Amino acid sequence: ETVDVSGLHLLPGAIDVHVHFRDPGYTHKEDWESGAAAAAMGGVTTVFEMPNTVPSTSTPEALFDKATIAGSKSCVDFGLYALLGEETLDRVQALADAGANAFKLYMGNTFGNLPSPSTGAMLECFEKAALTGLRVSLHAETASIMARREAALSAAGRTAPLDHILARPEVVAIEAVARAAILAEWTGARIHILHISSSGELRPLAEAKARGVDVTGETCPCYLFLDSSDYERLQGAIRVNPPVREKKDSLGILAALKAGVVDMIATDHAPHTPEEKLRPNIWDVDCGFPGVETQMPLMLTRVAAGDYSIMDYVRMSAGAPARSFGLWPTKGRIAPGAHADIACVDLSRRETIRAADLHSRSRITPFEGTETVGAPVHTLVRGAFVQRDRKLVPGMQGHGRQVTDIQRMPAPAPRNVELSLAHLTGGAP
Ligand code: DOR
Ligand code: ZN
Ligand code: ZN
Repeated sequence: ETVDVSGLHLLPGAIDVHVHFRDPGYTHKEDWESGAAAAAMGGVTTVFEMPNTVPSTSTPEALFDKATIAGSKSCVDFGLYALLGEETLDRVQALADAGANAFKLYMGNTFGNLPSPSTGAMLECFEKAALTGLRVSLHAETASIMARREAALSAAGRTAPLDHILARPEVVAIEAVARAAILAEWTGARIHILHISSSGELRPLAEAKARGVDVTGETCPCYLFLDSSDYERLQGAIRVNPPVREKKDSLGILAALKAGVVDMIATDHAPHTPEEKLRPNIWDVDCGFPGVETQMPLMLTRVAAGDYSIMDYVRMSAGAPARSFGLWPTKGRIAPGAHADIACVDLSRRETIRAADLHSRSRITPFEGTETVGAPVHTLVRGAFVQRDRKLVPGMQGHGRQVTDIQRMPAPAPRNVELSLAHLTGGAP
């Protein structure tokens, strides 16, 4: 099978460490076939999928079952998150042994209503996770119901003071990031801050990195390219948890992403039906929207605009996620012996995002009508075409494999917080 790639750029396929493919449990929203199809169309060759399915991915059996489903339906490679919380404390190592590729811990409530551990339970969760060497990804918000309600209220055009909508959830995210970082420092756990939405979170993130905590962070296109001035125009389509905040936040996050303080771009691909998303009663609304298909075109548009370089983009979309989630060096770069996970990109291709064209079952996006420059015109997963000439290659369901090449890095020795105090005051440790 040959294809003419003259004029194209060959990038490592994107590794999206934050998707919700809803299967098993909510297959009317998405399943492993439709979610993976959206990924293939978006130049994404590996996804890490979240545990808020039914059943939740919180037992070895649920992990095995999800791996079987994904292995039969997905055309892209995948990692699976296991739920880390009070209810799984007794089986953290068993979940790792059953093939979990990372852990997810909910510090706040969101879709799926999975319980959030107390700080004490979280400390024990981190202690156990550290021994597995796997990274713990955090929904780092302690009052996300509030954030969700306020965002939805505002999106519905109802009056609510702007400082309350935008500042208060930001404060709880800052607190959550800082608390998670100190618990990680104490226990030696590796952590990852999901969906950074406010510039306030950058300070505790940068400070933790400076102290030597193994912490990484991601943001998503909506937090870079949308802000509170888009609420009125987008109405319910912008509903996401955490909410899109102010222009100063998106500018701060973009600067931090370029500087590497925010390590990577992920999508929080969170499909819901338009009906579920646009419900009139704010408390019944399912937040989030599909993103795995539109990430690369949206991010490449900013390469075309000169906001960052193509090499910056590769670091954010593939290099950093591969390194942080133990896939380095076999995924995330094109090198001898590496998997041929490749997005063949036309950097000047112009497209317009249309929800009706998306391959996700969720046909609603806040980027409806957005014009993009740059798109993956072919996608290869381990050397096989899964997308070709902007069309899904048929019959590739089941080509995807669970990432088996995770490098279980030995856990670092726990660090005593007192050492860091000495560090901060300039004294010898
Ligand atoms: O908007 C969101 N949707 N935020 C979350 O934290 C969960 C996600 C989902 O699963 O729908
Ligand atoms: Zn979340
Ligand atoms: Zn999520």
